Amino acid sequence: MELRSAIALILFSLFIFANHVHRTSAERSTYIVHMDKSSMPKAFYSHHYWYSSILKSAKSVTQTSPDIDKPEPKLIYTYDNAFHGFSVVLSKNELEALKKSPGFLSAYADSVVTLDTTHSYKFLSLNTASGLWPASDYGKDVIIGVIDSGIWPESPSFKDDGMTEIPSRWKGICQAGQEFNSSLCNKKLIGAQYFNQGFRAAFPDDPIVMNSARDEGGHGTHVASIAAGNYVDGVSFFGYAPGTARGVAPRARLAVYKVSWGSGVASDTLAGIDQAVADGVDILSISLGAEEINLYENPLSIASFGARQKGVLVCFSAGNRGPSFRTIRTSIPWAIIVASGTVDRWFAGTLTLGNGKTITGWTTFPARATIRNLPIVYNETISPCNSPELLAQAPDQSIIICNLTMENTYFDFTMYYLPQSNVRAAIIISEDFSIQRSFSFPFPGVVISPTEAREVSDYVSNNDAPIATIDFQQTILGTGPRAAPVLADFSSRGPGVSYEGILKPDIMAPGVLILAAYHPYTPRPTIGNNIFLSTDYTLLSGTSMACPHISGIAALLKAAHPDWSPAAIQSAMMTTANPLDNAGQPIREDGNFVATPLGIGSGQVDPNRALDPGLVYDASVQDLVNLVCSMNFTRNQTQTILRSSYNCSNPSADLNYPSFVTVFFRADQGRTLTRRFQRTVTNVGDGAATYRVKLEVPVNTTMRIRPETLVFRKKYEKQSYSLMIRYKADIEIQHRPGSVTWIEQNGNHTVRSPIMVSAGADFFG
Ligand SMILES: *[C@@H]1O[C@H](CO)[C@@H](O)[C@H](O)[C@H]1NC(C)=O
Ligand SMILES: *[C@@H]1O[C@H](CO)[C@@H](O)[C@H](O)[C@H]1NC(C)=O
Ligand SMILES: *[C@@H]1O[C@H](CO)[C@@H](O)[C@H](O)[C@H]1NC(C)=O
Ligand SMILES: *[C@@H]1O[C@H](CO)[C@@H](O)[C@H](O)[C@H]1NC(C)=O
Ligand SMILES: *[C@@H]1O[C@H](CO)[C@@H](O)[C@H](O)[C@H]1NC(C)=O
Ligand SMILES: *[C@@H]1O[C@H](CO)[C@@H](O)[C@H](O)[C@H]1NC(C)=O
Ligand SMILES: *[C@@H]1O[C@H](CO)[C@@H](O)[C@H](O)[C@H]1NC(C)=O
Ligand SMILES: *[C@@H]1O[C@H](CO)[C@@H](O)[C@H](O)[C@H]1NC(C)=O
Repeated sequence: MELRSAIALILFSLFIFANHVHRTSAERSTYIVHMDKSSMPKAFYSHHYWYSSILKSAKSVTQTSPDIDKPEPKLIYTYDNAFHGFSVVLSKNELEALKKSPGFLSAYADSVVTLDTTHSYKFLSLNTASGLWPASDYGKDVIIGVIDSGIWPESPSFKDDGMTEIPSRWKGICQAGQEFNSSLCNKKLIGAQYFNQGFRAAFPDDPIVMNSARDEGGHGTHVASIAAGNYVDGVSFFGYAPGTARGVAPRARLAVYKVSWGSGVASDTLAGIDQAVADGVDILSISLGAEEINLYENPLSIASFGARQKGVLVCFSAGNRGPSFRTIRTSIPWAIIVASGTVDRWFAGTLTLGNGKTITGWTTFPARATIRNLPIVYNETISPCNSPELLAQAPDQSIIICNLTMENTYFDFTMYYLPQSNVRAAIIISEDFSIQRSFSFPFPGVVISPTEAREVSDYVSNNDAPIATIDFQQTILGTGPRAAPVLADFSSRGPGVSYEGILKPDIMAPGVLILAAYHPYTPRPTIGNNIFLSTDYTLLSGTSMACPHISGIAALLKAAHPDWSPAAIQSAMMTTANPLDNAGQPIREDGNFVATPLGIGSGQVDPNRALDPGLVYDASVQDLVNLVCSMNFTRNQTQTILRSSYNCSNPSADLNYPSFVTVFFRADQGRTLTRRFQRTVTNVGDGAATYRVKLEVPVNTTMRIRPETLVFRKKYEKQSYSLMIRYKADIEIQHRPGSVTWIEQNGNHTVRSPIMVSAGADFFG
């Protein structure tokens, strides 16, 4: 347990928790209020005046109540781009009065926000010779908005060498603040703003540590540089992963919106998204999660719908609550939700035994420690590394063997006790993959598997004076000890809790030990318990690191295909994603099981194939409106998401989406169910093409698809097909994967959609 939570700390996904902000006074707190702007009387010059006037009336209505001595309701933000409304500090009485105002839709309490590459581009096959990089001019002029903890603007990753003039359509600003002046932006970092009025209202006693867009934690800097960092030579993590750092879209622009202040609140996050949409970002990269389940109360869901209405593609991290099912809480159908996998890179230390035998172990110990021909200490019967007393008895200047497969022996404890002993290094036996998801390795040593450990124990038992040598700072690329990618244990799994009708996550991208820019004064790796090292580039793991890979690739696709809608870009990434690893086998999980679409969505993103997907599943804003209309929300809930422009005359849950999911409920147990889908694909290949279908049918399921051949005579022609899935609702076979693949005849496009037949929410309480 302790280990898992310790590792979770290092995973660093920002999470908005909707544990409502603990009230600062019994009566007054911050509310986010959604309004129907079409009810605004013509007399008002702007929404801001209208909202202020509504608040004045709400105050006067409550004059006779005990609120008489209270201050005016305090308007914090007004929102007008991603949705219509405002946030305000109110008493309960004032809120009740406000609810009677014309145009009021809904209101909910503000919620708390807390903190939840040199190689990954190569693993994704991005290269300068062909494919998506040259075709997109490296993402030239696409603007990625990053909603996070701000930016460390001095990082070399945000220099603007090689960047052209800022496009005139850009409306954002470089906001001056504490230790941040407005000349810190440039042609790479084109915008920087910060939002903390909601945080101040919720936590008036908490100081604002850095009152500007400057990143105090490092998370925002890391995420931004993954998406669109410039080229920086000679980067490494203390000798590991050396090379040239660069973002996925090295020529895209960055605009950062700081909403996290160590923790933060939804009202600030909404203000950041609202501003980003107004400023003209093309892509929003949001490595945040919201706890609130209901799509009509979840600020990220509401704001991302508004962004999508304005043509902005929105990407979210899936969250770091895996590996259990149903850990993706906010399964927003109108955003891309990204899972996290490994890359084909290992950080290694070579263990050489006195008999010449070598074993490649895992380590990220951040220095070149000298461990040469030192005696090995081994006590098979106990686990001395878990006890300061036993470690104190170990001989000086030795290498100790720590067997973590013994009960109650944890890596973190071992790494805490070892520096207090006179031991020089450790050989750690473990099969816990979470060790290989963290960069934390404060004591010289290597981790080896129980199988490899047998060779060591044979050597030690058959030798009077066993010795060993360890060499650090080695990086192994390619098909190393294990195929890649592997779905990380921590990556949250579907089905999505807030809406089960669309398969989530959508796609997987690299998110384990990604090297990217960092805030140099946040002490990250340690040596022993008291030495805190500083670094400009660090390794981090989490779905937070996977999301900006997808944001960057979306920026490249946007540059290569400026006329594609967000849905088309998303479809291109999903239908060309790879469900297989680099050994050609189905992608596995950390625990070695085959991963399902509930873990990896469509599979690992393949950017070069996404450039030329053959067919796309497009969807308009009206299609998304029809989806929301099918969700059986109340009129006000629906309008909170859709705003006044909505038209619910044609509700439909059958969104033209590039994946399929059907869930069954407890009440269905034992019955045979039928689910029908209708899909339309658009030919984005060059000219005529014929596609034939190939089905992978889930177990104990039958499928029928009509027609089985799609003939396109020209580019942009659309063709439709219907898919029927018949399956028994059987809790014994909870998760049944399959797929539909359209294969081009006499061509090389394949267009794949995963299928999931899955037990629904009520089976899981
Ligand atoms: C729904 O909205 C209407 C006006 O659009 C308002 O009068 C009503 O109070 C709202 N209902 C709830 C439950 O908030
Ligand atoms: C920003 O800081 C730089 C360097 O300290 C200084 O030269 C410049 O005048 C400042 N700009 C503004 C707008 O304050
Ligand atoms: C192993 O440790 C136990 C407990 O301290 C001790 O009794 C035993 O002698 C040790 N064995 C060796 C081989 O050192
Ligand atoms: C490590 O501990 C496990 C569990 O006690 C034991 O089965 C295994 O043999 C030990 N490995 C070595 C190399 O001592
Ligand atoms: C909405 O209600 C209709 C009619 O009661 C029902 O058929 C449908 O399944 C419901 N949809 C959802 C998403 O609950
Ligand atoms: C809603 O859309 C339908 C067609 O989908 C159209 O016939 C109808 O006039 C629209 N209603 C409004 C109020 O725009
Ligand atoms: C599929 O159904 C058959 C007969 O109903 C049953 O014998 C079999 O075990 C089922 N397969 C699985 C994987 O559950
Ligand atoms: C597809 O085929 C064409 C011609 O047959 C070839 O030029 C192109 O490189 C192929 N693309 C891929 C992704 O294999």
